[in-house]
Amino acid sequence: MRWPALLEQAVASTSRFTHVTILRVTESTQDAARRQSAGPGEVVVAGRQTLGRGRLGRTWSDTADAGVACTFVVVMECVERLAAAAAVASARALEVFTNEPVLLKWPNDLYIRSRKLGGILIEQSGGVALVGIGVNVAQTAFDAAIAHRAISLNMLGLKAQRIEVMCALIRTLDAALAESDDGLAEAFEQRNLLKGRTIVVSASGSEIRGKVVKLDPIRGLELATAEGRRLIPGAAATIVHDGGVTGA
Ligand code: BTN
Repeated sequence: MRWPALLEQAVASTSRFTHVTILRVTESTQDAARRQSAGPGEVVVAGRQTLGRGRLGRTWSDTADAGVACTFVVVMECVERLAAAAAVASARALEVFTNEPVLLKWPNDLYIRSRKLGGILIEQSGGVALVGIGVNVAQTAFDAAIAHRAISLNMLGLKAQRIEVMCALIRTLDAALAESDDGLAEAFEQRNLLKGRTIVVSASGSEIRGKVVKLDPIRGLELATAEGRRLIPGAAATIVHDGGVTGA
C-alpha cells in the first residue's frame, strides 16, 4: 500500500483524526494547514518540507525526502498540555523503532543518545491548535551547523520508513490527547532528559536557575530555585543552560 491508503487507514483507527492532506512539496506544513483553514481532525503531511520552522523563530532544516513533517489540527486547549501530549506521543511512536527510550527535553525536543531526533511546534490559528511534529528518519548526514547535535533513525542503524513513523504518530497522538494530566505527567517523567539537572531558563525577560523537579502538563516545568519552587510555562521559555545533558 502507498502513502494515501496507509495514512487514511491510520486516521480511520483514531477517534479524532478524519482526513489527511498529502503535499508533495511545501514550505511548512503549519502554513499549509493554516492556508486551507483546516479544522480539527485534519492532518497535513509533506513529502518534502523546504522552509519549516521551529519555536521562537528558529528554522527547521529542509526535510528533503528523508524527514517526517506533519501538522495535526486539533481543538484548542491548554498549550502546555498539548506540548506534553505531543512530546509523549512522539516518544512512544519512535520507541516502536528504537527499542530504547526517546528522551524529552522540555519544552519541545526529542533526544536520543544526546542528539536531537525531532522537535515539536505548537501554534494557534483561527481557534484551532496546529501541532507540528518533525522527525529525522532517513538522513545520512546534516548541515555542518547542526551536525554535532542532530541524529536520524537511519544514523542509529534503524531502517524505519517515513510512512511507518507518520502512521505511528497519528495513532499515538490521538491516544495521548485523550490521556489524563497525571498519565501524561508520568509518561513525560519516565523520559525527562532534564530531571534532577540544574538548568537556567530564560522566561518573561528574566533568567531563572533551578533544579528540575518535574513537569506539570498544565502549569509548566517545576524548578527548585534558591527562592523556592517555580513553575515555568514552556510557551515562551528558552533553556540557556541545560545542565550539560547535550554538551551545551
Ligand atoms: C523545534 O525544534 O523548534 C520544533 C521543530 C518543529 C518542526 C515541525 S516539522 C512539521 C511542522 N512544520 C513546521 O514548519 N514546523 C513543524
